[in-house]
Amino acid sequence: MSSEHILTRTEGAVRVITIARPEKKNAFTSAMYAVLARELAAADADAAVRVVLLEGSAGAFTAGNDLADFLANPPSGEDTPVFRFLLQLVDQQKPLLVAVDGPAIGIGTTMLLHADYVVVTPDARLQMPFIALGLSPEGGSSLLLPRLVGQLRAAEWLMFAEAIDPERAREAGLVNAVVPKGELATFAMARATALAAKPAGSVLLAKKLLRDPYRAEIKAVILREGVHFVERLGSAEAAEAFQAFFTRKR
Ligand code: COA
Repeated sequence: MSSEHILTRTEGAVRVITIARPEKKNAFTSAMYAVLARELAAADADAAVRVVLLEGSAGAFTAGNDLADFLANPPSGEDTPVFRFLLQLVDQQKPLLVAVDGPAIGIGTTMLLHADYVVVTPDARLQMPFIALGLSPEGGSSLLLPRLVGQLRAAEWLMFAEAIDPERAREAGLVNAVVPKGELATFAMARATALAAKPAGSVLLAKKLLRDPYRAEIKAVILREGVHFVERLGSAEAAEAFQAFFTRKR
């Protein structure tokens, strides 16, 4: 079911989903969110799949939302691809492992908050530049980030909007492991395979019990953040920041 920019393959009981739009550092268009949401749901529905491994390609995880596509196809509400993707992440039943090298910007970082295991390389560039772009926190980050890393670190990472050192991200509990670049794929697949070898029913139950208490709350936060985010996309501050990105090389 691979599509042009989202590739899928199955290795044993591991469904590997690869973000593959290297010419734009794997920035997400709304079409890509739609495919990704569908692939995650398909993995849940496939009895042969026990674990999902999400990875980038060509030295990038993702540069986040495609800023041009954002302006051309701004998300307008719950029933749009980006929100379908985020809500699918919240509803995902099978464990999600994420392997990150290079840019993991914007939603590239906030989606990690929904993962069950995150491994990165020292070159990972974790960053939530929403405020610098005239936007606002998204993806459930206003709830999940302070819960995970503490209020002050969450405020620092969101408001200063600077890249987060991978080792600091690990110490803070945003990522599980930092491994050398050349070992990322092997390491991530070994973790995925190890998890897939555990009793599947127990793994599913563990994830459900860990997530159920907050599921409805996280969805409500994602939608509430979304209202502000969509509004901010139309702001003069965002227009100025986007323009600065588009003209930065000229
Ligand atoms: N949206 C649209 N295009 C993007 C993009 C994005 N989020 N991120 C990168 N690209 C494009 C660049 O415009 C460039 O296209 P071009 O070759 O046609 O000019 C191409 O991808 C390569 O990016 P480039 O900036 O040359 O690579 P880099 O290695 O110097 O920097 C990033 C990589 C990711 C650090 C940098 O591109 C960046 O900061 N991107 C924006 C990230 C962002 O703000 N995301 C939105 C979060 S809400």
